[in-house]
Amino acid sequence: MASRCYFSVLLHAFVFATVATLGFSQLTPNYYDYSCPNALSTIKSVVEAEVQKENRIGASLLRLHFHDCFVNGCDGSILLDPSPTIDSEKNARPNIQSVRGFEVVDEIKQAVDQACGKSVVSCADILAIVARDSVVALGGPTWEVQLGRRDSTTASREAANANIPAPFFSLSELITNFKNHGLDEKDLVVLSGGHTIGYARCINFKAHIYNDSNIDPNFAQYLKYICPINGGDQNLAPLDSTAANFDVSYYSNLVNKNGLLHSDQELFNGDSTDSLVQQYSYDNQAFFQDFANSIIKMGNIQPLTGDQGEVRVNCRKVNY
Ligand code: HEM
Ligand SMILES: *[C@@H]1O[C@H](CO)[C@@H](O)[C@H](O)[C@H]1NC(C)=O
Repeated sequence: MASRCYFSVLLHAFVFATVATLGFSQLTPNYYDYSCPNALSTIKSVVEAEVQKENRIGASLLRLHFHDCFVNGCDGSILLDPSPTIDSEKNARPNIQSVRGFEVVDEIKQAVDQACGKSVVSCADILAIVARDSVVALGGPTWEVQLGRRDSTTASREAANANIPAPFFSLSELITNFKNHGLDEKDLVVLSGGHTIGYARCINFKAHIYNDSNIDPNFAQYLKYICPINGGDQNLAPLDSTAANFDVSYYSNLVNKNGLLHSDQELFNGDSTDSLVQQYSYDNQAFFQDFANSIIKMGNIQPLTGDQGEVRVNCRKVNY
């Protein structure tokens, strides 16, 4: 008995040391089990219904979690509307006229607050849950979402401009950007697989299709109809050949020089990330498993926890 107790003390000391050194958040999958046991099922059913209506919304919702986590951590800051005190991230260069899905987040927040009988689920957690449910609804992997993030009372357009990677980035710029967020080269390659769903606007791939040489000429030709050299900047093209399915096509497209964004094709352009792209292009299981691991890691970026921040009543505004 004494030795078991000693072991338990050691174990706790070890867990504490690990938590302290990795800065691991106190997030847990069970966070709402008592305060709102129906939270997860309520959210899932709204996401399923919305993706059924318009499958692109799944992509847009996944992207919101990414753009949230990359700007001062996963704290719901992307959802705040402009106000006299909020310099909204919605107006940052990577987001303006681009990020979408805010009405669906509002709908989910209302539904979950009604199911809970009170406002207990944070907007930052809603984004993390909805990212998972969207990926599942489009045929991708599932994972256990870590929960307990709290919402920021601030936002920063400048930080959004500085921290969200751009489609004209080189491989080394992409690697550095991810590294600054605690994510490695493998995380970069596998999370870029988010581009297996959704769309991009002409303005974001024009330079790639007209000026880059690492693109299949037939693919470039097809895109030039969608994206003329003059104008058409808001026209949409799918990010991979099966934009409504979460699958490995994004990677097989890259191997065939059919990447839509310059930044996508950088991952398969004769450099250190080629071999992983090659592997994912045929290994669905590896892609799904690694995507789940890396998105959990992304969701752990600098959350507000405990009594930090707040749980917003309205995801677009800070509480009074
Ligand atoms: C690696 C660096 C990345 C860059 C440079 C990048 C850039 C972009 C750009 C330029 C668009 C199109 C936006 C528009 O034209 O309006 C886009 C769309 C998208 N991105 Fe990324 N992205 C990156 C990583 C990620 C990650 C890590 C995820 C999620 C795991 C993600 C998910 C998406 C999704 C789902 C869309 C489509 C959204 C929709 O259809 O509404 N991206 N990205
Ligand atoms: C292609 O490159 C030229 C020379 O750098 C530049 O002037 C032009 O704007 C680029 N075209 C596109 C579509 O980006």
